[in-house]
Amino acid sequence: MRGLPRSGAAQPAVTVRAPAKINIYLGVGPRRPDGFHDLATVFHALHLGDEVVAERDEAGRVTVDVVAADGAMVDVAAVPRDKSNLAARAARALGRYAGVECGVRLTIVKRIPVAGGLAGGSADAAAALVACDAVWETGCGRAELATLGARLGSDVPFALHGGTALGSGRGERLAPVMAPARLSWVVAVADGGLSTPDVYSALDDLRGDAEVDPPTVPDALLTALRHSDVPAVGRYLDNDLQAAALQLRPRLQEVLDEGRQLGAVGGIVSGSGPTVVFLADDDRAAQALAADLVASGTCQDAVATGGAAAGARIVAG
Ligand code: C5P
Repeated sequence: MRGLPRSGAAQPAVTVRAPAKINIYLGVGPRRPDGFHDLATVFHALHLGDEVVAERDEAGRVTVDVVAADGAMVDVAAVPRDKSNLAARAARALGRYAGVECGVRLTIVKRIPVAGGLAGGSADAAAALVACDAVWETGCGRAELATLGARLGSDVPFALHGGTALGSGRGERLAPVMAPARLSWVVAVADGGLSTPDVYSALDDLRGDAEVDPPTVPDALLTALRHSDVPAVGRYLDNDLQAAALQLRPRLQEVLDEGRQLGAVGGIVSGSGPTVVFLADDDRAAQALAADLVASGTCQDAVATGGAAAGARIVAG
């Protein structure tokens, strides 16, 4: 446990940006006794991200508000404002851990689609950890924040880490991967969300009693990433959750087909869905593909973005 924050120099407010994540590859092992699944994944952080503004609350309360970023089509009404909000839970967890009595007012400025398979809640939790660490001057290191974050959600450590990384365990164990500095993506946003536990359960049902091998990331994909071979990366995009997400949301197949027909290098359901992501040759191709996807009417919105982005970091304050 740590002492109370030092008085005097504390910043009254900071803004932290945290990235959405996609899984360039997502291998899912059998259901574990604790209900989670071991993963072998390549995480990739997108420049599409949320911001969390944190202001000290000397009265000791932890409160949260959620607003849409300018021009972002996100269903902010679907994000809880109460104690269950993942960013508020992250703040309380850090406050308990560091013995902080000060509270915080959190404002989440959302761009990441809600319940979209892009780990938006984990991004907000990661941002809240970094922001509260700053306004409360807890002096926690990234490793401590990641340990706290892993208890809140499997993807929180990666939202802190950013870049492109191999993930194992339930996604909380990370190792760096050599990858291109820039990959161009289109994020095709679906109408409504999907529940992550429902998608994992649907996968378990699809597999039935079949023996499931421990998942591994193909060496060929790691080689393609190391060599910045974009067409090969496109060929090796894969996601064990995709069949389950498609079963729950069959219309996503149309989005995948449309994007490929429109010239995407590869396409995949992102994590547990229902967001679909497409790899493009370059940023210009991504912009064109996003416009064509919107015009096709197969998805609610499509946004061109890139990766790999940094992990949660202070951008103002
Ligand atoms: O950790 P997170 O909150 O993202 O997980 C949400 C749910 O997704 C878990 O309760 C579990 O049902 C499922 N999950 C899983 N295996 C993982 C990660 C998540 O089964 N590796």
